[in-house]
Amino acid sequence: MVENEYETHEFDVIVIGAGGAGLRAAIESSAQGARTALICKSLFGKAHTVMAEGGIAAALGNVYPEDNWKVHFRDTMRGGKFLNNWRMAQLHAQEAPTRVLELEEWGALFDRTEDGHILQRDFGGHRYARLAHVGDRTGLEMIRTLQQRAVRQGIDVFMECTIMRLLTDGDRLSGALAYWRESGKFVVFKAKAIVLATGGIGKTYKITSNSWEYTGDGHSLALWAGADLIDMEFVQFHPTGMVWPPSVRGILVTEGVRGDGGTLKNAQGERFMFKYIPELYRAETAETAEEADRWFTDRSAARRTPDLLPRDEVARAINSEVKAGRGSPHGGVFLDIATRRDPEYIKRRLPSMYHQFKELAGVDITQEPMEVGPTCHYAMGGVRVDADTEAATIQGLYAAGEVAGGMHGANRLGGNSLSDLLVFGQRAGLAAARYALGLTGGVRIDAHQVETLAREALEPFERSDGENPYAIHQDLQECMQSLVGIIRIEGELKQAVDKIVALEDRAKKVRVEGHRQYNPGWHLALDLKSLLAVSKCITLAALERKESRGGHTRDDYPKSDPHFAKINVVLRQKKDQLGVAQEPLPEMPEDLRQLLEEKK
Ligand code: FUM
Repeated sequence: MVENEYETHEFDVIVIGAGGAGLRAAIESSAQGARTALICKSLFGKAHTVMAEGGIAAALGNVYPEDNWKVHFRDTMRGGKFLNNWRMAQLHAQEAPTRVLELEEWGALFDRTEDGHILQRDFGGHRYARLAHVGDRTGLEMIRTLQQRAVRQGIDVFMECTIMRLLTDGDRLSGALAYWRESGKFVVFKAKAIVLATGGIGKTYKITSNSWEYTGDGHSLALWAGADLIDMEFVQFHPTGMVWPPSVRGILVTEGVRGDGGTLKNAQGERFMFKYIPELYRAETAETAEEADRWFTDRSAARRTPDLLPRDEVARAINSEVKAGRGSPHGGVFLDIATRRDPEYIKRRLPSMYHQFKELAGVDITQEPMEVGPTCHYAMGGVRVDADTEAATIQGLYAAGEVAGGMHGANRLGGNSLSDLLVFGQRAGLAAARYALGLTGGVRIDAHQVETLAREALEPFERSDGENPYAIHQDLQECMQSLVGIIRIEGELKQAVDKIVALEDRAKKVRVEGHRQYNPGWHLALDLKSLLAVSKCITLAALERKESRGGHTRDDYPKSDPHFAKINVVLRQKKDQLGVAQEPLPEMPEDLRQLLEEKK
């Protein structure tokens, strides 16, 4: 009996990850009467959700009454280069306003319009000012509110507890094996349904806005359990991360800076974004600084500033400027809000940015420009799910938030992440609870499976000689950053595959010193399996998609290809063999297709 050997807990539903999606899923699941646990690898409340600083996209229509879900749907599909799962994009646009108002009811304190409604700010690719926000700390407020709600609802929380594998009983999920970070002891969770809400993969790259937790855990747990991953080639490089000093490189500079009037300039003082307006956005984007300034002072002006093009466009433009030798002293470009806004406004609207630059870089953003450059921020790819229920392709498994694929297609619009977490977190929690409550009988844990995994996890302690996990991680990050970054090419992608295979071999010989109690070297040794698995998925998918689209740019295939416009690249692991396949996107119904046509 596993219970005699290991600490064991039993629930109807376990939710892995306690960011916005996990919290919202757990709240819903427990509200349905399912015994629900929330398990997170970090401290409760420490989640990448807080890095969505600028706001939650929802067509509330408080600033522009002409906004509605149809426009939001269209913007999202255009931003995703039409590769999005249309049904997810539809549900997201339709339900985001309800979820934001619910958050307000639960205590979130949004900034206000003069007449007392939730204020909405501009963000890239959104036709109208649409982001409900709390200064530049929206994600933080969202986590605070959801956390309070979850605690009030009496949800069991297991924090600093890392899930290593999902457990199966025949072809059914039966739970998960985890370890406590503090004691290093193993713990078994029995569960009828599992919701993955683990966030992203940022730590596969060297320059990232993600913190140490984001090692692609949910992506790899799903893959190893036999579920499909889609769209893994699409990685979002947020255009504005800090570039200096080196110790803070990659930390996010919210898009809210540009939403509130900040402009991008190169080393020659040129507002270079006017040179990079893509055809799809030309009709609605200002062509000159004068025209963009008109839009800034009169938001009813028809054409917006190109500083607020979608992130993939802006990140590529910055990359080109730097490569052409027009970058800032530390390899980025300048982001200037001081010219247009007075200090009091900047401090009120962007308090975290003001402090971040003052404390970390010694820069006063009310007086001088910031130096910024692209930083790996978000994975569009993830677990393939059913749009309505977030069910993965194996029974009993659900995924919501960044770990799920499909919603954002080839590129996510800023602000669509927080709304995604709320909309699909709620839907996943509901579906998982209904599934679990509908199953009769308990689940059985396979003791042999647990024993084998536990033994493997302890092997790094037993080697007298071997590889250092930090060195392997560093080499992986170098490889992904330089060979699978913003601009890709076949030869380099192939090199990356070879390097990842070599790193996998090294990881099999990883050695750690010390004991099981709070041992970060051991934790990283275990995370390496997942970091390597998702890196391989990203690289193989990038090789497969022979075109450029959104967050995947191939130097050797610089154009979008109509064939790939209808294709998801799917990754599926069978008996240790990782397969890559091209599968057709779900067909979009005519009424929605019409919405996209109207805009064109
Ligand atoms: O720039 C930001 O505030 C990030 C928002 C997001 O990723 O949605």
